[in-house]
Amino acid sequence: MSTANRLQINTAGVAKTRALGRRLARYLRVGDVVLLQGPLGAGKTALTQGVGAGLNVEGPVNSPTFVLLARHDPLEAPTARGLPLYHADLYRLTAPDEVADLNLAPQAADGVLLIEWPERGLAALPAEHLLVVIELVEGVPSERRFTFVAVGERYRRVLDGLEASGHVSRSGSARAR
Ligand SMILES: Nc1ncnc2c1ncn2[C@@H]1O[C@H](COP(=O)(O)OP(=O)(O)O)[C@@H](O)[C@H]1O
Ligand SMILES: [Mg+2]
Repeated sequence: MSTANRLQINTAGVAKTRALGRRLARYLRVGDVVLLQGPLGAGKTALTQGVGAGLNVEGPVNSPTFVLLARHDPLEAPTARGLPLYHADLYRLTAPDEVADLNLAPQAADGVLLIEWPERGLAALPAEHLLVVIELVEGVPSERRFTFVAVGERYRRVLDGLEASGHVSRSGSARAR
């Protein structure tokens, strides 16, 4: 109950970001909501691709221009390791009302929901969520800084898992997955 609500992880290169997404997926479950904030090219879709791989869903996971919400089914029957992935990209929306009209969380209730550009309508999105802020690192084109912020007790558990798995990673065994 007393764990931190914030975790920072840097990745060097897109493959490391996808690996981070796969790691995150292990701690996600049905009904979870992840908000991905960061500029164009930050790595929001790359992280989502990793989560999709971790959830064992059909690809490709990308950000098609005219699809606001894509559903990716698991390759096998839903289990802890195979869940539907819902991937929203709100970039083109301008009014919070448009975000509200999408009804994202109810639509995604049987899976995990990841949302790019949530700032288009934060008030219309679930108050409890895992916020992921992605920043570029000056002078290092292939580096990104991920700040995970748990909003709500449920997401502290996710951060606990992510942090613990990071220790494994640092000791070497899971690094290059
Ligand atoms: N550490 C990194 N993590 C993620 N992407 C990276 C990284 N370093 C370089 N890149 C590049 O940045 C781009 C990220 O693209 P994308 O995931 O589509 O961003 P977004 O969805 O945030 O607009 C890709 O071209 C990728 O190759
Ligand atoms: Mg994207």
